[in-house]
Amino acid sequence: MQKLLTTEDTEETALNSSSSSVSSVVNANNQINNPTLVRVRELYKHFPVEGTGDFWRAVDGVTFDIKRGETLGLVGESGCGKSTAGRCLLRLIEPTRGDVEFEGRDVTAMGKRELRELRRAMQIIFQDPNASLNPRMKIGDIIAEPLVIHKIGNRKEQRERVAWLLGKVGLDPDYMKRYSHEFSGGQLQRSGVARALALNPKLIVADEPVSALDVSVQAQVVNLLQDLQKEFGLTYLFISHGLAVVEHISTRVAVMYLGRIVEIADAKDLYLNPLHPYTQALLSAIPIPDPKEQRERVILKGDVPTARNPPSGCRFRTRCPIAIDDCARIDQELREISPGHSAACIRVEGYASAPPSEARP
Ligand SMILES: Nc1ncnc2c1ncn2[C@@H]1O[C@H](COP(=O)(O)OP(=O)(O)OP(=O)(O)O)[C@@H](O)[C@H]1O
Ligand code: SF4
Ligand SMILES: [Mg+2]
Repeated sequence: MQKLLTTEDTEETALNSSSSSVSSVVNANNQINNPTLVRVRELYKHFPVEGTGDFWRAVDGVTFDIKRGETLGLVGESGCGKSTAGRCLLRLIEPTRGDVEFEGRDVTAMGKRELRELRRAMQIIFQDPNASLNPRMKIGDIIAEPLVIHKIGNRKEQRERVAWLLGKVGLDPDYMKRYSHEFSGGQLQRSGVARALALNPKLIVADEPVSALDVSVQAQVVNLLQDLQKEFGLTYLFISHGLAVVEHISTRVAVMYLGRIVEIADAKDLYLNPLHPYTQALLSAIPIPDPKEQRERVILKGDVPTARNPPSGCRFRTRCPIAIDDCARIDQELREISPGHSAACIRVEGYASAPPSEARP
């Protein structure tokens, strides 16, 4: 049974307790100075379409880094592959191909035992706390479950840890005796956050953690996540449908469309100077409080094409208001336009553009 980590434990202690050999501790300590916590390269996840030779190209060649201590917002319309990408990082689902490194360790090559260790450092919070927390278990047992699975602490220590975690997420420690149906949506999501924190993780993939909550409660949970990030030096991948939700929490933002990242930049830069027409359209939908500064709303025509059969060339071309003929031919990769700001569009800077044509089906 392993020692239960307390607030006083340093990162080094945490690493020592989770690494079985001297060399892995040395390796881990070296990694602390590395600003990149997660490195994702050319990640693909294709789901077979039953009874056909086809695939849903849910994630189709995605490359990005998550820096230690930052919040990377991952944004895009429903079905664009955000959750699939997040789950592939944790290997909750197996990527079709591509590389994922966590603190320099190859996640995709890990065996069961190594992966189990890694899961302590990488946690996930789901969109719907009602669906993700077992209604037949008391909240205290739900939060303690990761400690039980990883055999950390005895029962008394686990109870103390749960009480402490409940306090950290703004809930009364006495709530540990209650069942999930006795909680409000906001309280349940706080419990989900407490459970994710139980093992002192470094990375939390927050998959639409506030989408199922009342607007009035959303800000509270976002603020809680920010406070916890400061206190524990957490790193977040924060997944959301809309740019409005991630605006205040993100250090950087990646915009996804049909399985690809089409733009990635520091949050401020992306909101002030969006380069990709898709990002511009998403941003134009966010109301600005000052009536004198309204953006012109870009209404995207047509539905999102299916990930089973994406358009040739640029995948956004069937809805892009400034598409030209070359867009059907050229599949532009992400390229850095200014330091730290990359976009995948042939009409962003440096392209001898022909007059825009109407978007084609
Ligand atoms: N297990 C699965 N089997 C087959 N197809 C899947 C599976 N999981 C996801 N998909 C498909 O992969 C694509 C991406 O799904 P994903 O859930 O990652 O999107 P998302 O961006 O998270 O959407 P949302 O915003 O609605 O949560 C969708 O077309 C979806 O239907
Ligand atoms: S490459 Fe063409 S279709 Fe794609 S976003 Fe740029 S202009 Fe639009
Ligand atoms: Mg999702």
